[in-house]
Amino acid sequence: MAGQKYGITLRKSRLDAQTRAEAREVRFTQSQLIQPYFAVAGLKAREPVPGLTGVYRETTDTLLGQIESDLENGVTQGILFGVPSEKSPGPKFRFDQTADQIRAVKRRFGERFYLYVDVCLCSHTDHGHCGILNEEGDHVVNEASVEALAQAALEYARAGVDAVAPSDMMDGRVAAIREALDREGFDRVKLMSYSAKFHSRFYGPFRAAADSAPKGSVKLKDRATYQIDPGHPTDAYLSSKRDLEEGADILMVKPGLPYLDVLKDLSARIPAKWAVYEVSGEFAAIEALAAQGMIDGPRAHWEAWTAFFRAGASLVLTYGARHFKRYEKASES
Ligand code: PBG
Repeated sequence: MAGQKYGITLRKSRLDAQTRAEAREVRFTQSQLIQPYFAVAGLKAREPVPGLTGVYRETTDTLLGQIESDLENGVTQGILFGVPSEKSPGPKFRFDQTADQIRAVKRRFGERFYLYVDVCLCSHTDHGHCGILNEEGDHVVNEASVEALAQAALEYARAGVDAVAPSDMMDGRVAAIREALDREGFDRVKLMSYSAKFHSRFYGPFRAAADSAPKGSVKLKDRATYQIDPGHPTDAYLSSKRDLEEGADILMVKPGLPYLDVLKDLSARIPAKWAVYEVSGEFAAIEALAAQGMIDGPRAHWEAWTAFFRAGASLVLTYGARHFKRYEKASES
């Protein structure tokens, strides 16, 4: 009303759903989300993963069924976490079971489904570390670990995977994997590096699903000597810059919400394609609050995704990729 002291100015862009939709600057599509899958060799029947609603430890059969239904729900890509039936201290590991699962997925879905595979040793080692330990059991040996990782990536490429994603945090693994792949003519297989992966408490539900928590009597009890310290963002910058130089096609920040500042900063400073991993503990936290009736789960998930894209991500790894349409609908207003 004319003459009113405090008229509506900025609130005009917020007053109705149409205006909010046309004014919105951050938009994303389901094709920018990557759905994680746990495939467990030798498992008889699939098992739900505690905390991650609707996510299972799959058998090879149920994996294919789950992907089929996800495709119907608009999922276009996924990342496979293979859990072998046998553990070993190394240097030899069984990568063939995950390779067989990759073969089965690509045979059935071909180009309809873009498949990443996580490359790490933590589900393979008997102690749960992401690399091979020295004899004293107090240190992850870089070179032997990188050799095993390159071997894994090669076996997965031979099985037809579209992209490999090393998550181990050894030095030089991007260059070693790229070289191993190119040498065999797999130059079109993409490499997404978990380049800014922090030593986080938010990986709990994942480690149960992947059977990958550090365990047993070895001296080295946690991943602090290879994952990045939460208070050392410069390390994340150096690691990401190095991985890009070594040939990574996609860089990643992980976890997501607690490290949004890192995502924003690194994506501005390093021109590359940036992914962010909304890790198991973050996803489960939203689900747990929703189960308590304290928040609206679907709208909270959508809000978290919006934050990732606003901060500079082009890709988000999230356990909720298959619920995109449901979350979107809940958020329309
Ligand atoms: C394995 C790996 C981890 C995750 C992805 N790859 C766990 C870890 O480092 O212990 C975490 C993903 C999640 O929590 O959702 N190196």
